[in-house]
Amino acid sequence: MLLEIENMSASYGKALALEDVSLHIAPGEFVAVLGPNGAGKSTLLKCISRMLAATGRLALNGTSLHAYAAHQVVGLGICHCPEGRRLFPELTVLKNLMLGAYLRSDADAVAKDLERVYALFPILRDRASQMVSTLSGGQQQMVAIGRALMGAPKLLLLDEPSVGIAHRLKHEIFDAIGQIRDGGVAILMAEQDALSALRIADRAYVLEHGHVARHGPVAELSQDDHIRQIYLGVA
Ligand SMILES: Nc1ncnc2c1ncn2[C@@H]1O[C@H](COP(=O)(O)OP(=O)(O)OP(=O)(O)O)[C@@H](O)[C@H]1O
Ligand SMILES: [Mg+2]
Repeated sequence: MLLEIENMSASYGKALALEDVSLHIAPGEFVAVLGPNGAGKSTLLKCISRMLAATGRLALNGTSLHAYAAHQVVGLGICHCPEGRRLFPELTVLKNLMLGAYLRSDADAVAKDLERVYALFPILRDRASQMVSTLSGGQQQMVAIGRALMGAPKLLLLDEPSVGIAHRLKHEIFDAIGQIRDGGVAILMAEQDALSALRIADRAYVLEHGHVARHGPVAELSQDDHIRQIYLGVA
């Protein structure tokens, strides 16, 4: 198993945000995390990338991640594209992308990965020397995903990649995420757009109040009455 989480809990001060979450991801698998605002989706991703301390088992390829700090897990192949993108708006697109590769010394492979990012999002090649602040929200999301890819992930954590993005670009971004997965990268994607997520992922977990309320293959979840009523808006 690529990622194994068992009985993971995490809190902010005294407030418990995740409780007894168990989840796994196989190599190359595409897993979605659904759930309403405040359910704990971002918290889960932050625990995996060690930005937030958690209890319980958290292992990548059988190795516990608890001994690793946030800046070290990138080197293990976990790259996090965070909520709100967290880019450097006054730096160029290229500089932002290259920040994702700052730990790498394999210059040839880095150059190839940059080409891959440009192939995935051609607009970023055209805008490479432009400041990120001049891009649209959707284009900035492409930079954020591209930067995470520049870390050469085995596991890509995507936090709401489609939020606040115009319909056409959203389609383009989900399409690119599908291509990333086809390239063999496992993906854990938090997403509020349940319909889109259930369309492109292999399996999904539904978080509610910090607990896993449902999980299973997307075909199964799409037929689940609770999911259909609450998340897909159909009776
Ligand atoms: N830095 C923080 N300090 C205190 N509480 C926090 C912090 N970040 C999140 N929380 C709380 O933890 C819970 C889970 O938040 P989290 O951000 O993981 O939810 P989410 O599912 O990602 O929601 P959204 O869809 O709005 O992004 C919420 O009750 C939230 O208010
Ligand atoms: Mg969130």
